[in-house]
Amino acid sequence: MHTVIAIDGPAASGKSTVARQIAEHLGYTYVNTGAMYRAVTWWLLEKGVDTSDAAAVEKAVRQARVECRIEKGETIFRLDGVDPMPHVRDARVNDKVSQVASVPYVREVLVSKQQSLAGHADLVMEGRDIGTVVFPKAHSKFFIDADPVVRAKRRQGQGEADVIAKRDKIDSSRKTSPLTRAADAYLIDSSTLSIEEVVSRALEHLSKSS
Ligand code: DC
Repeated sequence: MHTVIAIDGPAASGKSTVARQIAEHLGYTYVNTGAMYRAVTWWLLEKGVDTSDAAAVEKAVRQARVECRIEKGETIFRLDGVDPMPHVRDARVNDKVSQVASVPYVREVLVSKQQSLAGHADLVMEGRDIGTVVFPKAHSKFFIDADPVVRAKRRQGQGEADVIAKRDKIDSSRKTSPLTRAADAYLIDSSTLSIEEVVSRALEHLSKSS
């Protein structure tokens, strides 16, 4: 198995930007698992599946061909041969993704795809359950947090309609692998830090622990 750096945290904590920059710095492959849950959500909405109906979600996903691999240092994700990535930031996806991510079968499928990527490359993987469930033995774990008010402002600044508080509540209270900080994750509160400061703290921690 290759080296895995796990980065978890709530919505708009800054973890995506930080994870991407750490991956670039180390020459590792960046994997955004939130984008996979978003991709499945978009695909279900396109098919007209009621995302509040867990049985209907499971049935549709069981029939889907889910491809997940690394090509030229990039994560490739396809559903029935379609690339959903251009649509994953749509407002309707923001609204429904936590519902879809709480369906145990969806998590089972995506977690196993995420785990298989470590057979092919060194990874910086970000999400909600990477250090707790996907790679509990990851080489390094980070939990990036920020004040909820700061996070809501950041998302607004990105011009996105996103109900962060609602998503946080569902993500943290769901039965299957809720968002929690792994006991051995290094906590960085990004509320008053720039991205550069968060990245440099993370890299400093990595160099101390390696
Ligand atoms: O990181 P993000 O905001 O793009 O993630 C979108 C949603 O996907 C988030 O509300 C919760 C879910 N998610 C998850 O349940 N597990 C992950 N590993 C990543 C994301």
